[in-house]
Amino acid sequence: MKLICDTVESCARLAAARYQRLLNEKPDAVLGLATGSTPEPLYRELIRLNKAGALSFARAATYNLDEYVGLRGDHPQSYRYFMDDRLFDHVDIKKENTHVPDGLHTTAENAADYDQAIAAAGGIDLQLLGIGPNGHIGFNEPGGPWNSRTHIADLSDSTRQANKRFFSSIDDVPTQAISMGIMTIMHARSILVLAFGPAKAQAVAAMVKGPVDPACPASILQLHPDVTVFADEEAAALV
Ligand code: GLP
Repeated sequence: MKLICDTVESCARLAAARYQRLLNEKPDAVLGLATGSTPEPLYRELIRLNKAGALSFARAATYNLDEYVGLRGDHPQSYRYFMDDRLFDHVDIKKENTHVPDGLHTTAENAADYDQAIAAAGGIDLQLLGIGPNGHIGFNEPGGPWNSRTHIADLSDSTRQANKRFFSSIDDVPTQAISMGIMTIMHARSILVLAFGPAKAQAVAAMVKGPVDPACPASILQLHPDVTVFADEEAAALV
């Protein structure tokens, strides 16, 4: 696992350069994408590069990590809405090649279909991850199984608290999500993790140098052969 510590802006630029390289070498790359505040500077940089003609998503396909159960794609807090608003509507990607788990039809069968669709597309070339303050990746919460595929996940109280800033009250925060599993994530050929701000310091330290333990789901990334973590000084403070 490689850790690069720089400012948020530099991390976003360096991470965007990885996408530029990948998409230039493999225009039909399969990208695993993430939501949350953390990827926003990267998405702004990708939009800038796309508008400048430096990279194209025209042949790329994307698969997002997760979606809240019960939110329609046009709900402003849904992850589908977030991705359209922060990235897809501003770049040359074909909407039909973008995939976010369906938060309305959340059966075990639909969840399994998501993994099959990823495999049929050739597998994920580059998976983007944020990290929750408790070390979750996607919505794989502490204590969950290592061998999970896309599944319906119960959200921990701390994750609902952390995400309530996007909703009018805690009662509006969904209690479940459909999320890629740990195994789905570990199958990606390469992984980029972004972590910014002091709230992520403990989780980043546990991910990078803690024991590989389900208590910190992100710690399993130590076992993946190609992971780069971009963190600002505050997030890397305890490493
Ligand atoms: C959510 C998402 C994660 C994300 C995390 C951190 O729980 N499911 O994929 O990494 O939040 O979000 P933020 O970047 O806003 O801190």
